[in-house]
Amino acid sequence: MVILGAGPAGLVLGNLLHAAGVGCVVLERATPAQLRTRQRAGFLAANTVRILERHGLAGGLHRHGRTHATCEFRTEDGRFRLDYGHLGRGEPHTVYPQHLLVTDLLTQYQDAGGTVLFGTEAVTVQGLDGTRPTVTVRDADGRPGRWQGRYVAGCDGRHGAARRSLPPGSVRRHHLDHGVSWLGLLAEAPPSLDAVGYAVHERGFAGHMARTPDVTRYYLQCERGSTPDDWPDDRIWDELALRMRAADHGPLRRGPVLDRTVVHLESDVLEPLRHGPLLLAGDAASLISPSAAKGANLAVLEAEVLARALVDDLRHGAPEGIARYSDRCLHHIWRAQEFSRWMVRLLHVAPGSDGVPPFHDHLRRSRLASLRTSRSCQHWFAEQYAGV
Ligand code: APR
Repeated sequence: MVILGAGPAGLVLGNLLHAAGVGCVVLERATPAQLRTRQRAGFLAANTVRILERHGLAGGLHRHGRTHATCEFRTEDGRFRLDYGHLGRGEPHTVYPQHLLVTDLLTQYQDAGGTVLFGTEAVTVQGLDGTRPTVTVRDADGRPGRWQGRYVAGCDGRHGAARRSLPPGSVRRHHLDHGVSWLGLLAEAPPSLDAVGYAVHERGFAGHMARTPDVTRYYLQCERGSTPDDWPDDRIWDELALRMRAADHGPLRRGPVLDRTVVHLESDVLEPLRHGPLLLAGDAASLISPSAAKGANLAVLEAEVLARALVDDLRHGAPEGIARYSDRCLHHIWRAQEFSRWMVRLLHVAPGSDGVPPFHDHLRRSRLASLRTSRSCQHWFAEQYAGV
């Protein structure tokens, strides 16, 4: 069994397979230091925590994670808060930076005797028409190598070797360009709110998400094609203050910006999530916009479904789980994609021509009004927002 990628999907899968006695190797092009410091997501849904707890992988998040159950919307029609963790079937998130989770998963996998080859880039996955696929690799010195297994799990993201190796026409790619770009940044400053902040503003969206007591994740909608260099610290903080209406709701706690990247919001879903002995999970299976913090949660869920299917086949000779893997995960993926798209449409003011807001901008304001006033809408939101 060969796993490509040591992100949340690859490492949860590796831990579960190793624990079930299935021989596997994880091929990861990054170094351990890069993996342990790469800042990514950090909002774990309650179901994700339950999955990690089920497999003894939740020690770190229980020690250092913090629950989060409230979000605050700041709009042209005022401010309101939703205690989503206690509304309807909503549950709180656990805020636990992903690089810490990846570090935990890596440590537990290696301590249990699992094998990760760092600095090892998968180049192609061959032999997909048979039952012994081969992964060709290149090590840090450029030396070629090959790995074979009964299955290959593509957990190497949207630009990885797994996707590249899918024969043309073997899967359909459903793609959506949301038409907005975000500047994602990490500030060395304590959170400015005790909630996830969503600011909807005619100048553009701004978001606030705690990461640790001393570091806060912010998002700023920016022009398509912007680069991080267009955004010096002062411009970032002034724009955040404007869009989060700091004059009305209180100042932001400023600090040096540690990391800034521009991401263009797009989503895609491959269908099916499998071609022969190659199975996809995480971003390799589907890319989701960061608007509802679903990516890492889907990756963990898919890894557990895939692990169960592989163990059933490889240890118990029952291939049904592998046959059903794609349909089972696509059901969850499409629900997460639908809510993520709903959030994108909720948070971004549609640019009107000659200052007249277009029809669907009135729909946006109406959705926000429903979210502010309707209990049933709030219950629906809570279930979608915190669930996977
Ligand atoms: N060979 C080996 N490793 C590779 C290759 C390759 N060709 N290409 C990518 N990788 C590695 C990357 O270095 C990374 O460590 O695969 C790993 C993929 O990890 P993630 O991008 O975190 O993907 P995944 O596990 O699917 O988690 C997806 O987590 O990062 C959050 O919210 C984000 O939606 C995303 C989710």
